[in-house]
Amino acid sequence: MSLLSADELVKEFGGLRAIDGLSVSIDTGELVGVIGPNGAGKSTLFNCISGVITPDEGVVTYDGTEVTGDPPEKLARRGLVRTFQSTRELETMTVRDNVRLAAPDQPGEQTLSALLRTDSMQSAERAVRTRTDELLETFELDHLADEYSGNLSGGQRKLLELARALMLDPDLLMLDEPFAGVNPTLTDEIAERIRELNEDGMTVIIIEHELETLTELVDRLIVLQQGRILVDGQPDDVLSDDRVIEAYLGGEV
Ligand SMILES: Nc1ncnc2c1ncn2[C@@H]1O[C@H](COP(=O)(O)OP(=O)(O)OP(=O)(O)O)[C@@H](O)[C@H]1O
Ligand SMILES: [Mg+2]
Repeated sequence: MSLLSADELVKEFGGLRAIDGLSVSIDTGELVGVIGPNGAGKSTLFNCISGVITPDEGVVTYDGTEVTGDPPEKLARRGLVRTFQSTRELETMTVRDNVRLAAPDQPGEQTLSALLRTDSMQSAERAVRTRTDELLETFELDHLADEYSGNLSGGQRKLLELARALMLDPDLLMLDEPFAGVNPTLTDEIAERIRELNEDGMTVIIIEHELETLTELVDRLIVLQQGRILVDGQPDDVLSDDRVIEAYLGGEV
């Protein structure tokens, strides 16, 4: 069943058509890779779908409802969560707080005094703390929990970004270059974790330049070029497609 669909999306920046009448449908449970030369429109497609920007034309449908232009927070509450190519965590906050505060409807420390908190709020907070600790452990960030995020390496920031996304308990997880700047060992570990999440039912779409890891991981590969889908299919078929070879060897990468 289709979980997400984009129909005839268009997004222009000045005279440039970053997304040029693109349509795509993703079924529940799929693990999909998106590749393409720099500037092909991959991040812009994610932005249009996740509500970071509103497309000029076209319709985005998620879980049976039209969501075109809905803000990212609203979509996240409905289970559509994305990460960014450049990490956006707050550098002056600790790693633990960055993960903890990613949780939806998180009561801030200052909003109410502890005395006024109801039992259910306190148990919700406890659940958030437990989940935070679990995620920090999963992504081997537990030893860095009290470190300021600004002190993390690029790869560690990617892990933090992933942990923050999972804090939102997504049904559809959209990752923009999750392996960029991550060392090979950690890349393999993140890929394995993504595979497990998918096996547990999460639908995942990954933009990535690191083709070797990506093509081993995904069941379906979509190639974007100049704001359109060039080829969409099984990874082996896609990578041996003449149009894809030409797009990649044509000096555009
Ligand atoms: N906010 C913006 N304002 C103006 N132009 C933009 C904006 N965002 C993207 N673009 C342009 O739209 C085109 C597609 O960009 P996009 O970031 O989607 O590409 P991409 O496929 O993600 O590339 P990369 O692999 O380098 O991340 C590029 O030409 C880019 O310069
Ligand atoms: Mg991009």
